[in-house]
Amino acid sequence: MTRPVDDVPISLSVAEMRTARDEIQRFLLEYRFGMQEIETKISILREEFRSMHDYNPIEHVTSRVKSPDSLVDKVARKGIDPDFDSIRTHITDIAGVRVTCSFTADAYRLYDLLTQQADITVRVVKDYIAEPKPNGYKSLHVIVEVPVFLSTGPVSVPVEVQFRTIAMDFWASLEHKIHYKYDGAVPADLVASLKDAAVTAAALDDRMERLHRELHGPHPYGASLRV
Ligand code: GTP
Ligand code: MG
Repeated sequence: MTRPVDDVPISLSVAEMRTARDEIQRFLLEYRFGMQEIETKISILREEFRSMHDYNPIEHVTSRVKSPDSLVDKVARKGIDPDFDSIRTHITDIAGVRVTCSFTADAYRLYDLLTQQADITVRVVKDYIAEPKPNGYKSLHVIVEVPVFLSTGPVSVPVEVQFRTIAMDFWASLEHKIHYKYDGAVPADLVASLKDAAVTAAALDDRMERLHRELHGPHPYGASLRV
């Protein structure tokens, strides 16, 4: 399980390289389709909320399929066997969709509405909103499996979906830049500052949500909320 990718000798012919490239593209294509299925589901919920409830719980949605480069990096970093079966099993964030919501309650609501759908299987949930990471990171993560119907038959594709508020997203994007700039070794004072900023962001979320409820009542769109 621990053969680093970098140790694979480069002795491929051009034809073999083309085959390898085509296989990687085909492998990633399934993830693109899985991602598109989730995007469609989220966009249907968004449209429905807008037209039926005159309310838009989603600020924006972004998605990506891991690039071959970053996939290879992760395979090497995690010491995973560089074959498709093993990558399929061990790397579950090849397709990712991020749903940025107006309020925390909306993040949980969208999570419920997506994961309760009959064709969705939940594999792993990490609720960093209820239990933030030590650095202050907040988001609700779920790995779901969604069926994709290919000409060769159905495949089940894992997609990582992250639900968060605008404030959580703002914080995470700055933290990511700082983390990247210092190559992971962020100075202690900056770490403390970031943590403090996460508390401020959470307080803003609470305040905005309270204001919103004062304006629109507790649940503008009916069913019960978990927060
Ligand atoms: P990875 O192997 O990095 O994907 O992490 P993991 O398998 O432990 O999963 P986890 O759910 O903790 O994190 C998955 C993704 O959440 C990451 O790829 C980031 O997009 C995001 N994330 C997690 N922790 C942080 C964090 O501390 N800061 C920021 N900015 N993003 C984070
Ligand atoms: Mg990841």
